[in-house]
Amino acid sequence: MEENLNKEVKRRRTFAIISHPDAGKTTITEHLLLYSGAIREAGTVKAKGKKSNKFAKSDWMEIEKQRGISVTSSVMQVDYDGYQINIVDTPGHEDFSEDTYRTLMAVDACVMVVDTGKGIEPQTKKLFEVVSKRGIPIFTFMNKLDRDGREPLDLVSELEEVLGIDAYAMNWPMGMGKTLLGLYNLYNQRLEIRHSQDEDELIDLADPMLLQGQYDFTKSSIYSQAIEEADLLHEAGNQFDREKVNCGKLTPVFFGSALTGFGVQTFLDAFVDLAPSPAAVETVTGEVIDPVQKNLTGFIFKIQANMNPAHRDRIAFVRIISGKFEKGMNVTLQRTGKTLRMAHTTQFLADSREEIQDAYAGDIIGLYDTGNLQIGDTIYAGNQEVQFPDLPQFTPELFMKVSPKNVMKQKSFHKGMQQLVQEGAVQLYRSYHTEEYIIGAVGALQFEVFQYRLKNEYNAEVEMENMGSKIARWIDPAELDPKMSSSRNLLVRDRFDQPVFLFENMFAENWFKDKHPEVHLKQLM
Ligand code: G4P
Repeated sequence: MEENLNKEVKRRRTFAIISHPDAGKTTITEHLLLYSGAIREAGTVKAKGKKSNKFAKSDWMEIEKQRGISVTSSVMQVDYDGYQINIVDTPGHEDFSEDTYRTLMAVDACVMVVDTGKGIEPQTKKLFEVVSKRGIPIFTFMNKLDRDGREPLDLVSELEEVLGIDAYAMNWPMGMGKTLLGLYNLYNQRLEIRHSQDEDELIDLADPMLLQGQYDFTKSSIYSQAIEEADLLHEAGNQFDREKVNCGKLTPVFFGSALTGFGVQTFLDAFVDLAPSPAAVETVTGEVIDPVQKNLTGFIFKIQANMNPAHRDRIAFVRIISGKFEKGMNVTLQRTGKTLRMAHTTQFLADSREEIQDAYAGDIIGLYDTGNLQIGDTIYAGNQEVQFPDLPQFTPELFMKVSPKNVMKQKSFHKGMQQLVQEGAVQLYRSYHTEEYIIGAVGALQFEVFQYRLKNEYNAEVEMENMGSKIARWIDPAELDPKMSSSRNLLVRDRFDQPVFLFENMFAENWFKDKHPEVHLKQLM
C-alpha cells in the first residue's frame, strides 16, 4: 500500500501554463492531450465557445455559456508517458481574476509560453511575478517558430532582463518561419530536422555523417549560424544547474511551434523528466508534511460557486498535499474542527467531470460544498491537527465604488457583500472620509461576477461606479497622517482596517514617495 502511494506520488506532475492571451497556451495543452490519447483531434479544446460537434472540454462550459459568464479555471488530468499530469488552467483574457493567481498557489511547476513574435507581454510578466515568489520551477516555451519572429538571442536576453531570471536554452532554432530548418537540441544532443508537418528526422550529434558534413543542410548558412549562436550562448551564458531550475532561478528555454507540433513532444518529454513531483509543505507550526505520508491533507485554493444556477452547487477545489483520498472518507475541516464526509467529489478530465474513487498527493479534486468551506481552508485525516498557511492576497488593480440600488435592500446587500468578499470574489475597502464601499479586483470579470451573484443569490442590485485602475499600496498605521490623502492618492481602509493608498498612477506614487520619504509603501503579493 505504502509503496503504491510512493509510486503514485512520484509520477505526478501538477502545473499551470502562464502566458499572455494568444501566445498558444490552448494549442500546447491540446497537443499534450493528443499525445496522451485524451483527445482524438486537434481543435477539440478550442471547441469552447464555437459551434462544434466535437465534445466540449467539460459540461461546465455549457453552463457558463448559458450564464454568459465564463468563470471556470478548470483542471485537466491526463496520463502522459506513465506520468499523471494535472494541468491547472489559468484563465486569461477577460477571465483574468484573483482566481488565476490563487491557482498558481496549487501547482508544483509552471510552463511559461512566449510568442516569439512578441516577446514578454504584460500578463506573462504579472503571472511570472506571482510564480517567481513561490520559488517553483518555471519552464519556458518560445512558441510560433513556424512564423518569422524576433531573433532568438534577443528573446532570451529580454526574458532575462524583463523577468530577472536566468535562462538556459535547451534547444536552439535553426532558422524560423519559412526558413525553419529544425532545432539543435542540446538537452538530447541531437538535431531535429523538420522535413514536413508529418516528418521530422532525428540526427544524433555524434552521427558520423553529420560530423563529416555529409548532410546537405550542413552547408546552409542557417545551420552554421544557429550552431554558432548556440555554442556562443553556452560558452558565455548560464550553465545548466538543476538546483537552480528547482528553485525557479533558472528557466530552461525550449523553442517550438505548438500549431504544427514541432518541438512540442521534445519539450513535454523534458518537462515531465525535469519537473518535480509534489513537494513537502510546511504547516503554520513549522511541521513538514511529506506528500507520501499516509494521512490525507490538503487545502482549498478556489471555490466555484453556483456553477449551475438550477442546483446552486458550489465546488471547492482541493489540492491534495499528502496521502491518498478515497471516496466517502472522513476528514476534519481544520477551521471549525468539524468532520467532513468526502462523499461527493469530482475530478477533472479533458472531456468530462467524473466522480472519483481515489486520488493522491498532487491531484486536485472538486468537493461539492453546501457553504461550509472557505478559500485557504485545510482539511486533514487522522487525529493530528494540520493547518497550512493562509493563501496570500493579491494587490488589486481595478476599483469600483458600489452602493445598493434599493435602500430597502441594505440587509441583503451587506450580507451578500460580506460573503462574497470572504469567498475571495473581490476585495473590499471603505474610503476614510466618506465611508463609501469600494471593491478591488485584478480583472474586470470579478466585478461582473460580483454584480451577477449579488443579484441572483442575494437579490441585491447594485450601482457600480468605475474608478479605473489604481496602484494600491499599504502603509503602516503608525506612519499615517490622514492629511496625506489627496485626489491623486485616495486613502481607504481594507477589510482588516489597515490603511491603503490608491494612487492615480505611477507618477502620483512617485510624487508621494518624494514628498514623504519616511513612509513605507507596501504591496500584497
Ligand atoms: P492562448 O490559449 O494562449 O490564448 O492561445 P491559443 O492556443 O488559442 O493560440 C492563439 C492563436 O495563435 C491561435 O490562432 C492559434 O492557432 C495560434 N497559434 C498557437 N500556436 C501557434 C504556433 O505555434 N504558430 C502559429 N503560427 N500560430 C499559433 P487563431 O487564429 O486566433 O485561432 P484559430 O482560429 O486558429 O483557432
